[in-house]
Amino acid sequence: MDLILARNRTDLIKARGGGTLALVPTMGALHEGHRSLIRLARDRADQVVVSVFVNPLQFGPGEDYSRYPRTFDADLAACREEGVDVVFAPAAGDMYLPDRQVSVCAGEMGRIVEGASRPGHFDGMLTVVLKLFNLVRPDVAVFGQKDAQQLSMIRRMVADLDVPVEVVGAPTVREPDGLALSSRNRYLSAGERRVALALSRALRAGAGEPTPARVRAAASKVLAEAPPELELDYLVLVDPATFTEVSDPYEGEAVLAVAAKVGATRLIDNMVVRLGR
Ligand code: PAF
Repeated sequence: MDLILARNRTDLIKARGGGTLALVPTMGALHEGHRSLIRLARDRADQVVVSVFVNPLQFGPGEDYSRYPRTFDADLAACREEGVDVVFAPAAGDMYLPDRQVSVCAGEMGRIVEGASRPGHFDGMLTVVLKLFNLVRPDVAVFGQKDAQQLSMIRRMVADLDVPVEVVGAPTVREPDGLALSSRNRYLSAGERRVALALSRALRAGAGEPTPARVRAAASKVLAEAPPELELDYLVLVDPATFTEVSDPYEGEAVLAVAAKVGATRLIDNMVVRLGR
């Protein structure tokens, strides 16, 4: 069956099949990372819906909302190739009521790490994700581990608000040289792209170490040696569920997360680190 393009709730209801449904929320500009999410969704449900919506609520003043890449025709072609059943692409003006009052508050966890650098970002992200869950009513929703704090916040929202959906995290897809795939990579010049490789190099250096102090030291050393075009925002080693910093002694999984500006482009990346024995 050919791909269905849904623009609103009525279209979504018409397109709904009888079996299980998986949702892959995206802001478009689809790349191989999104394709891996779609393939995972295909394995998990009878019908796959990909949403394409650049959500104004999760961008702060001065961020890249207006220039965020919008490549809708290519996104549709990618979805067709991946056997997606429905693309849900609401018009910007149709998603939010003009007199909208109520939104999701991400709480304390939304104000730390990435949330400290992007005030309001997680409130806006969770608000649109909850709306997408309510509109699409998926059994399963797939998100990338690349946005690790986003994934944790969505799991938190689903638990705290009893949202009836299973949240599945998918591994980060990387270029052969280590750069994590991101829609924002297309902003980088060739030179900036080379500088950006310091992020994944730092994570790999830290990931081999056995204790929090040594993980931080190894990753920091790589970043300190990076060219000055790389402007570090944060490097943290956090508990994957709460995003609070972990310290020695610590055993188990932690997330080593980094954010930096390379030229005008802000990039984030992370790796799961296994500490202790
Ligand atoms: O990860 C993204 O692309 C966005 O934050 C999401 C989850 C689609 C919400 O707008």
